[in-house]
Amino acid sequence: MASSAAGIMRMGRQTAPTLVGWAQRRAMATATLHTERLPDLDYDYGELEPAISGEIMKLHHQKHHQTYVTNFNKALEQLESANDPQAIVALQSAINFNGGGHVNHSIFWKNLAPTSKGGGSPPEGNLAKAIEAQFGGLDKVIAKMNAAGAGVQGSGWVWLGLNKDLKRLTVETTANQDALVSKGLVPLLGIDVWEHAYYLQYKNVKPDYLKNIWKVVNWSDVAKRFDSA
Ligand SMILES: [Fe+2]
Repeated sequence: MASSAAGIMRMGRQTAPTLVGWAQRRAMATATLHTERLPDLDYDYGELEPAISGEIMKLHHQKHHQTYVTNFNKALEQLESANDPQAIVALQSAINFNGGGHVNHSIFWKNLAPTSKGGGSPPEGNLAKAIEAQFGGLDKVIAKMNAAGAGVQGSGWVWLGLNKDLKRLTVETTANQDALVSKGLVPLLGIDVWEHAYYLQYKNVKPDYLKNIWKVVNWSDVAKRFDSA
């Protein structure tokens, strides 16, 4: 009994400060709630034409990406006031979808560049060597990504990613707005194969969109991600 009482006393001494600490941390987190904002593009909407129309780029950035940012911020605010595990778990789907949408599109915009700013110019340096060694050339990895992208059923992304453990480049797809980090891979190049990315211009011919997007891929950005991974 004595030890039990001591145990309760120990618990009592430990529990009170812990709860106070939790409340303090929560209050501080609420006061400094981090929210995301729509990133600016490094180029004008029409600068990726004719590969991607300015109309698509404007809608894609101002409407679609903005909606992911808005809904991700809403979910983060709700997470702050969620006070039981069930409420927290219920928010995971919205966080994954909208947070993933924000992460994926933020990479996608940087992965693209007008031809006047280097879009479509082949990669150089370590990335070029790795592509040659692992795929047998740039044409081969492009063909592999096009086939994988064309094969995505419904909405999703096709990626050139890096498996850091194996030190290997890999072509992967993700469904909906799942981020590549969900597969333990570093995203280097992501191509959006949701219909909203091409339908206004290419209608149902996704392979033509995939064929033309390589004219505006910013390999310099992809190579930087590879070198810093
Ligand atoms: Fe998109």
